Amino acid sequence: MALTAASKYAIDLCEEIKARHPKITYADLYQLAGVVAVEVTGGPTIDFVPGRKDSLSSPEEGRLPDAKQGPPHLRDVFYRMGLSDKDIVALSGGHTLGRAHPERSGFEGPWTKEPLKFDNSYFVELLKEDSEDLLKLPTDKALVEDPQFRPYVVLYAKDEEAFFRDYAESHKKLSELGFTPPSSCFKLTVKNSTVLAQGAVGVAVAAAVVILSYFYEVNRRIKH
Ligand code: HEM
Repeated sequence: MALTAASKYAIDLCEEIKARHPKITYADLYQLAGVVAVEVTGGPTIDFVPGRKDSLSSPEEGRLPDAKQGPPHLRDVFYRMGLSDKDIVALSGGHTLGRAHPERSGFEGPWTKEPLKFDNSYFVELLKEDSEDLLKLPTDKALVEDPQFRPYVVLYAKDEEAFFRDYAESHKKLSELGFTPPSSCFKLTVKNSTVLAQGAVGVAVAAAVVILSYFYEVNRRIKH
C-alpha cells in the first residue's frame, strides 16, 4: 500500500515509542493507540489488556468486509469471528471518525459533520433520509434496512450512552480475537505491562499522533 504522509508520520512516531520501549509488541502498541484514539476524541474508555504476541506471517488477503455488499456479507465476515449483530452495528459506529478517500476505496468524504469527534452522530445521520454531503456506504445503509440491525441503529441514535457502552464492549472483543489474556499470575503481569504501556503512550504520544496511528491501522485492516 502506498503510504500517505499522515500515515507515515504516525508510523514513524509509533516507531519512536517502540524504539524507546522495545518490550511493547506492535500488536499491543497499535491496539493501545486505538483505545487511546477513541478516548481522546470523546468516546468511551475501553478496557485494555496487554500481552499480545507479534507474528511474522500475515493472514491471507481478501478476508476484510467489502463496502459494496449487504447484510449477508457483513454477517459472513463478523460471525466467523464470533461477533454478533449487535457487535456489527456498534463497531460500524467507528465511522463516527475519519473519512473515505477516492484514491483508496473509491468512496469519498466523512460520515459525520465532525469527523474528529467520537459520538453517536453516525447513527443520527444514518437515520436521516437526506444527509447532505455525508457518506453512506452500502454496508452502512444495510444497517438501517436489515430488520435485525435496525433496532440497534435506532437505539444508538437516541441513546449515546448505550452506544458507548456497547461500542467499548465490542471493540474489546474485536481487539482480543486470537489473544487469551493470561489468567493465573495475570494480575502481576498485567500490572507491570500496563504501567509500561501507559507510560509509553502518556509520555511520548500526543493525541493527534495517536489518532493518526489509529486511522492508519484501521485503513491497513480494511486494505484499500
Ligand atoms: C462493517 C464493515 C466495514 C466496512 C465495509 C468498512 C469500510 C470502510 C471504507 C470503505 C472506508 C474508507 C477508506 C478510505 O477510502 O480511506 C473506511 C474507513 C474507516 N473505517 Fe471502516 N469499514 C467497516 C468497519 C469498520 C470498523 C469496525 C471500524 C472501527 C471500529 C471502522 C473504522 C473506520 C475509520 C475510523 C475509517 C476512516 C479512516 C480514515 O479517516 O482514514 N470501520 N471503512
